[in-house]
Formats: sequence, structure tokens, C-alpha cells
Amino acid sequence: MSKILVMYYSRTGNTQLIAEAIFKTVEGDKSIKSLKEIADGEIASYSLIFAGFPVHSHSVPPVVTEFLKAMPQGKKVAFFSTYGSLKGSPLSREALENATVLAAGAHVLGTFSCRGRVSPQDLDILMRSPEHKAWTEMAVSASTHPDESDLADARDFAVRILTLAAQD
Ligand SMILES: Cc1cc2nc3c(=O)[nH]c(=O)nc-3n(C[C@H](O)[C@H](O)[C@H](O)COP(=O)(O)O)c2cc1C
Repeated sequence: MSKILVMYYSRTGNTQLIAEAIFKTVEGDKSIKSLKEIADGEIASYSLIFAGFPVHSHSVPPVVTEFLKAMPQGKKVAFFSTYGSLKGSPLSREALENATVLAAGAHVLGTFSCRGRVSPQDLDILMRSPEHKAWTEMAVSASTHPDESDLADARDFAVRILTLAAQD
């Protein structure tokens, strides 16, 4: 009997919204937990793990890094992320590639990402630094994400992953 975990780290709620859409799509013995709710050694008991995080500084947030590094060999995983950059930018893909490298040895079934609103407080702070100004002006257009279309894409992703996990 498969046991599924949807794990997320989310500072401002975007990644949590995606996690909840995935969780609702998954059927059976399932749990949804934020990173801090996961006990030591707990991940060993799941047969499939969806793990989600926001892109921070072009990569995986440091707190999530340890979780990914501890992923058991052969564990079936699927990664999802949200990011402020424009859709399709190489940087947003790189974070998911980094996650795959960090979880070396895990069986990565697939990845999903979508844009996520950057909070007004974070935009204000970034706008003040000249090196981040251009990025911040671009990131303003993420303010409506995740939207309904992103959530629908996340649900499709969950279905695809479940199909792949069942075939393995
Ligand atoms: C400290 C910090 C660093 C960020 N760095 C990036 C980045 O390098 N690239 C990017 O596309 N978005 C970046 N963002 C935007 C977030 O990835 C985006 O808003 C995400 O949806 C936030 O997810 P959350 O609400 O789950 O925390 C950053 C946000 C913060 C607060």
C-alpha cells in the first residue's frame, strides 16, 4: 500500500497553495506537512514524496537543502517550486536541477514550477538595491500567481506523477 507525503516549505504561502492543490489531487494514504512538521527519520515511511520550495537566490532555500540531502536512496520523489522570475527563465529551472542533484540517489519522477507573487515587503527591500532593481521591476508581474491556471497545471502534474509511480 503506497503512502504519500506532500512536503512544502513556504515563507509567504505560494508554495503552500501548490502543495494543497497536489494534496487534494492525490488519493489514498496521504499526508501534507510543512518542513518543520516532519520528524527525524519520518520520510523513510513514505513510498512517494512530493517536495516543494520557493526559489531563493536562484536555488533551493538552505533549510530545504538538508531535507533533500537526507532523501533515502531510491526513494520516489517529485519536486515543485514557485519563483518570481518570468515563466521559462533558466534560473527557475536551475533550482529544480539543483534539487535533483541534492537528492542524489533518489528516484526523481518529475518536476513542476510556476510563478509566485513576491511579497510587497520583499519587493520594497529588493528595489532599494541597485543590483536587484531590474529583477524586482520584472518580478512585480508575478503578483497574480499562483493563479487558477497554475493550480490546474499542478493538479495535472500530480496525476502524471501518480501514473509514473504506479508503473515503477
Ligand atoms: C529571499 C528571497 C529570495 C528570492 N530569490 C528568488 C530568485 O532567485 N529567483 C526567483 O525567481 N524568485 C526569487 N524569489 C521569489 C520567490 O521565489 C517567490 O515569490 C515564491 O513564490 C515565494 O514562495 P512562498 O510564498 O512559498 O515563500 C525570492 C524571494 C525571497 C523572499
